[in-house]
Amino acid sequence: MADHLVEAVNVTKAFGHHEVLKGIDLTVDRGEVVCLLGPSGSGKTTFLRLINQMETLTGGRIRVDGELIGFKEVKGRLHVRRDADIARQRARIGMVFQRFNLFPHKTALQNVIEAPITVRRKSRAAATAQARTLLETVGLADRADYYPAQLSGGQQQRVAIARALAMEPELMLFDEPTSALDPELVGEVLTAMRDLAAHGMTMIVVTHEMTFAREVADRVVFMDDGVVVEAGAPDEVLLHPQEERTRTFLRRVRQDAEQELEAARALETLEELGELSDPPGASGPEPGEDPERRRVH
Ligand SMILES: Nc1ncnc2c1ncn2[C@@H]1O[C@H](COP(=O)(O)OP(=O)(O)OP(=O)(O)O)[C@@H](O)[C@H]1O
Ligand SMILES: [Mg+2]
Repeated sequence: MADHLVEAVNVTKAFGHHEVLKGIDLTVDRGEVVCLLGPSGSGKTTFLRLINQMETLTGGRIRVDGELIGFKEVKGRLHVRRDADIARQRARIGMVFQRFNLFPHKTALQNVIEAPITVRRKSRAAATAQARTLLETVGLADRADYYPAQLSGGQQQRVAIARALAMEPELMLFDEPTSALDPELVGEVLTAMRDLAAHGMTMIVVTHEMTFAREVADRVVFMDDGVVVEAGAPDEVLLHPQEERTRTFLRRVRQDAEQELEAARALETLEELGELSDPPGASGPEPGEDPERRRVH
């Protein structure tokens, strides 16, 4: 068994003449949670996409569990892997994106069982039993037969997590999984991720959720302009950053968070005032209406 589950050595990626990653070195141990922070355009998504082979690197090496990603090394020379081999490698990695990319015409349960049946050749019965367990672990046992459009953003994102877990990955990549959510829905997704971390899943999480990073990450990595600027224990990087670029970024994230909180409070106040002016009974759910559905917009 390799020492590190993920090992990136001098990874570079260029789109045309634009060098987006300029030599990333990063290792992630088994069971470790690494939070990746950095300003927009610094290359965080690109790095995750390279690990998951949605892009091909320009230089350097990425190994997952000791195996070179995308290439095979034979007598010191690199050969591109065959498609089937790449599919096998990708199946070991789960990815959750910023935008919930569920199949809209499939229910939560159907979304979760799809890959285990088609890729892993599981029986429908076994895949369904596993999917029900996974939906339960993300708190959605009662939403198995709902379609994505009938679920809130937070619920959809938890289905996306269950769907990734159904492939029994050894590594989970999260790309800002809560940044497209309304503030009140962020917590439930972070809770599902926290549980996953507590069960020993190896995770690389791109996030601006500082509280989550402080509480759950074993290591925080700050990237800017295609390089790792600073990495270390969460409290070291988040509370005592050594680099000016890290300090500037953290200041900005905190300001943004404060502004968001203020906006949310203002909205709450407005809603309270609105409730008062509504005719009696107008603000409650209609008879027979599922109150959860009212959160969808
Ligand atoms: N397919 C592509 N073709 C050309 N340029 C790309 C492509 N994908 C990403 N880039 C460029 O690479 C740079 C890094 O993008 P990336 O999406 O990795 O940043 P990021 O750190 O994830 O940013 P954000 O926080 O906004 O998500 C950007 O300048 C982007 O325009
Ligand atoms: Mg990104």
